[in-house]
Amino acid sequence: MYSFLAFDLFFRAVLLLSLVQIVFAQGNKGVSNASPSSETGSRDWQAASQKALAFVAQLNLTEKASMVTGTSLSGACVGNIAAIERLGFSGICVSDGPTAVNRYDLVSVFPAGIAAAASWDRDLMYQRGLLLGAEFKAKGTHVGLGPVAGPLGRHPLGGRNWEGFSPDPYLTGIAMNFTINGMQDAGVQSCSKHLIGNEQETQRSNTVLPDGTNIEAISSNIDDRTLHELYLWPFADAVKAGTTSVMCSYNRVNETYSCENSELLTGLLKNELGFEGYVMSDFFATHSGVTSINAGLDMDMPGSFDSSSVATRASYFGRNVTQAVTNGSVSMERLDNMVQRIMTPYFLLGQDKDYPTVDPSAYFVLATTYSISLPNEVPARDVRGNHSTLIHALGAAGTVLLKNTNSTLPLRAPMNIGVFGNDAIDPTNGLTWPQSEPQTGFEFGTLDIGGGSGSARHTTLVSPLQAIKARAALTGARVQYLTSNAIIASNEFTSIYPTPDVCLVFLKTFSQEGYDRLSFEADWNSTLVVNNIAARCINTVVITHSAGVNTMPWATNPNVTAILAAHYPGEESGNSIVDILWGDVNPSGKLPYTIPVKEADYDIPIVNLTAVTDPNTWQANFTEGLMIDYRHFDALSITPLYEFGHGLSYTTFSLSLSLTLTHLPSSNDLSPFPNPSSPIAPGGNVDLFTPLFTASTTVSNTGSVAGATVVQIYVSLPQNSTSAGTPVKVLRGFEKVFLQPGEAREAKYQLTRRDVSFWDVVAQNWRIPEGDIGISVGFSSRDLKQTKKIKLL
Ligand SMILES: *[C@@H]1O[C@H](CO)[C@@H](O)[C@H](O)[C@H]1NC(C)=O
Ligand SMILES: *[C@@H]1O[C@H](CO)[C@@H](O)[C@H](O)[C@H]1NC(C)=O
Ligand SMILES: *[C@@H]1O[C@H](CO)[C@@H](O)[C@H](O)[C@H]1NC(C)=O
Ligand SMILES: *[C@@H]1O[C@H](CO)[C@@H](O)[C@H](O)[C@H]1NC(C)=O
Ligand SMILES: *[C@@H]1O[C@H](CO)[C@@H](O)[C@H](O)[C@H]1NC(C)=O
Ligand SMILES: *[C@@H]1O[C@H](CO)[C@@H](O)[C@H](O)[C@H]1NC(C)=O
Ligand SMILES: *[C@@H]1O[C@H](CO)[C@@H](O)[C@H](O)[C@H]1NC(C)=O
Ligand SMILES: *[C@@H]1O[C@H](CO)[C@@H](O)[C@H](O)[C@H]1NC(C)=O
Ligand SMILES: *[C@@H]1O[C@H](CO)[C@@H](O)[C@H](O)[C@H]1NC(C)=O
Ligand SMILES: *[C@@H]1O[C@H](CO)[C@@H](O)[C@H](O)[C@H]1NC(C)=O
Ligand SMILES: *[C@@H]1O[C@H](CO)[C@@H](O)[C@H](O)[C@H]1NC(C)=O
Ligand SMILES: *[C@@H]1O[C@H](CO)[C@@H](O)[C@H](O)[C@H]1NC(C)=O
Repeated sequence: MYSFLAFDLFFRAVLLLSLVQIVFAQGNKGVSNASPSSETGSRDWQAASQKALAFVAQLNLTEKASMVTGTSLSGACVGNIAAIERLGFSGICVSDGPTAVNRYDLVSVFPAGIAAAASWDRDLMYQRGLLLGAEFKAKGTHVGLGPVAGPLGRHPLGGRNWEGFSPDPYLTGIAMNFTINGMQDAGVQSCSKHLIGNEQETQRSNTVLPDGTNIEAISSNIDDRTLHELYLWPFADAVKAGTTSVMCSYNRVNETYSCENSELLTGLLKNELGFEGYVMSDFFATHSGVTSINAGLDMDMPGSFDSSSVATRASYFGRNVTQAVTNGSVSMERLDNMVQRIMTPYFLLGQDKDYPTVDPSAYFVLATTYSISLPNEVPARDVRGNHSTLIHALGAAGTVLLKNTNSTLPLRAPMNIGVFGNDAIDPTNGLTWPQSEPQTGFEFGTLDIGGGSGSARHTTLVSPLQAIKARAALTGARVQYLTSNAIIASNEFTSIYPTPDVCLVFLKTFSQEGYDRLSFEADWNSTLVVNNIAARCINTVVITHSAGVNTMPWATNPNVTAILAAHYPGEESGNSIVDILWGDVNPSGKLPYTIPVKEADYDIPIVNLTAVTDPNTWQANFTEGLMIDYRHFDALSITPLYEFGHGLSYTTFSLSLSLTLTHLPSSNDLSPFPNPSSPIAPGGNVDLFTPLFTASTTVSNTGSVAGATVVQIYVSLPQNSTSAGTPVKVLRGFEKVFLQPGEAREAKYQLTRRDVSFWDVVAQNWRIPEGDIGISVGFSSRDLKQTKKIKLL
């Protein structure tokens, strides 16, 4: 549980006070000048691997054991590999998280993964990764713990869904690729996490009863096809992108802990996907030494080399590794391979040369987070650069216009603006998330990021009310506001007069690591809040700042004229939403998940048991197989409130009915299976990525303002030549196209072997089915304009 981590950090901070040797690092090295976009695959892994091998050759056994085990004693980062001074190796610093550099001062808070996914914008995803990576590097962190592809989002209420991207594996896989390339182009290692099946927070780790009985973590029992086509898919893309490390998750998979699951770590990740980096445990997710090592775990975090110290918890690694090698239960070859895997990325990204030292604020934030006072505050290096520009733009790009009756938006110079809801204002209790309110967060204040290790300390935060007041001042408009949800919910308020031209209601839905959400509706009496405002205001616009899926019982209220899902947009929140409301930015976000009419339409409930005494009781059978999110709605013909891929614009678009499918020469004499003699490269058998045909169509802007849309392509594999459980359709391509009014452009896709294959559990391979494959293009999963068929076999 997260509290274990807090406990550990508490002790670590205490230790720091007694043995502190705070080394004041040199000044700001500034943000690295990243090279332009490059496939990480083109970096010289071979040369880096040779350097790592030469490094390993110089180590003695104790040092090797130290290289694979975190240590609390020599660093201020959340994870540390100790220095080996005689070799001039200054150690490895590992820091959270996927959305911002956590536990440091003077960093940027970026839009969350779910907001990046909602932009469907590859370039912005890359820029986000690049700038986040630059901040990690400038803080002296070698490894940034992200991006997240697990949880994928099986449960709408999963507590960490917002840290990742989308329950659609294709969209998440694209986001993984661009984020990883961005981070690594900035010179920092990525750690793709959490492998795998960490879909709920409840009982994600083992717990101990008062009588000492150890109750094991939840087991995600996932069948082979579902694992390949859904949960492992984006990790394959991460490996293909060259992710330097992968974090195994807290939970068990098929009753074996992820971090000691050899089928998962060695069979699938290292052998099938050709992963060449290292596997790091989630913090305290290691449950054995020899077993984990031989299953494929390369690094134990947070570790602790020598458990004789009272303040550190014992590690299954550390000195146990030297013993295990000495007594022959772990081979020296395996240990050498672990170290080589760990050091290859370090050399690959040039981290051996002129890497910034760890920022002193790591100590400060660690201490203040746990209410321990340090003798002196230490100055942090400001690594934010001009990153707020990207944050502002991506915050708007990740905002989805769900409803816009009678073109309510963009606003047309209203002179009387109402702002409502506790999400509209500055937080009243500080700029970090309060750990004391795990499930609702704080009552007053806008929500731009969730809680837990994926959260961060704000330096600046622009609230919606602040930005709206600034915008209104330009035209001398009046802004009235009421920001207590309790007062609005009570319906006893008379302070708003005269009735605003537009009533902007800001709602929020908190979510954090360690806890799953409790409600589909937004927090703090949101439905009463909307209905009570809408009862007085025929032009009510609702904006949600949310971790993801919500129900919106008020969506069909005729006075609710527009709805915007703004997700967790990061520190420029208010500026991002003002751009959309006033039309300075034309909304182009699309839902990366499905919004149901009602909870019962889509609820794979979180497993939550009470009074468990049998250690093995916590089980989650993924019996729905591939049918999560839109696949579920399609399979059962349920109409969603707002479907996957949906998002309106201030202009209109059309697709020409000219979908063209063209076979490429590679599709002649096709085998159903990838060429067995093709090499396994990072990502898997390289033939899986051979393009087989192209699809093209023409999209035009038929409205009067410039804007972007996302042309989406879905593949329908035949039901009768695949095994049971094949989805009606799956996303297999998208293009975000920006068009001036009247402009038209071709949208073109190359579909690969993997895009049109299913996982054949008997053949243990990807297989192209016989018969007609349906190819549909459109503007959402339920707004398909044209379908054609192609036969490959
Ligand atoms: C390994 O090297 C370290 C110095 O880095 C030294 O302190 C230690 O005694 C050596 N251990 C062995 C087993 O030689
Ligand atoms: C992965 O990202 C890089 C940009 O860094 C891009 O060049 C490459 O085409 C992407 N690959 C895929 C499969 O999207
Ligand atoms: C989990 O068990 C299922 C059902 O037996 C099997 O299909 C799948 O391959 C197993 N996965 C792993 C990673 O062991
Ligand atoms: C070795 O592992 C055991 C748990 O199996 C632990 O109790 C012990 O403290 C470990 N030793 C070291 C030196 O970390
Ligand atoms: C070898 O050492 C490891 C680590 O201390 C221990 O877990 C294992 O049981 C030992 N094996 C044998 C055969 O002694
Ligand atoms: C931010 O600064 C960098 C480096 O100085 C520069 O290349 C980039 O164009 C700037 N970006 C924006 C959006 O101003
Ligand atoms: C939308 O416009 C139509 C026609 O002007 C009008 O009848 C209707 O009441 C309007 N609806 C709303 C919600 O304002
Ligand atoms: C919601 O509002 C109602 C009516 O004012 C009130 O009774 C209830 O306590 C509120 N609930 C919460 C969670 O604020
Ligand atoms: C699980 O059950 C416990 C105890 O009944 C409750 O406190 C907790 O909120 C529940 N969690 C979820 C996600 O439902
Ligand atoms: C819509 O607003 C009007 C004017 O305030 C009000 O009379 C009506 O009851 C409202 N409708 C709803 C469904 O709240
Ligand atoms: C999960 O599946 C196993 C094997 O089919 C079954 O024994 C068990 O009862 C199932 N558990 C739940 C909670 O459905
Ligand atoms: C599969 O179904 C399609 C149409 O539904 C039919 O044309 C085709 O012959 C079937 N193929 C097989 C192998 O049964």
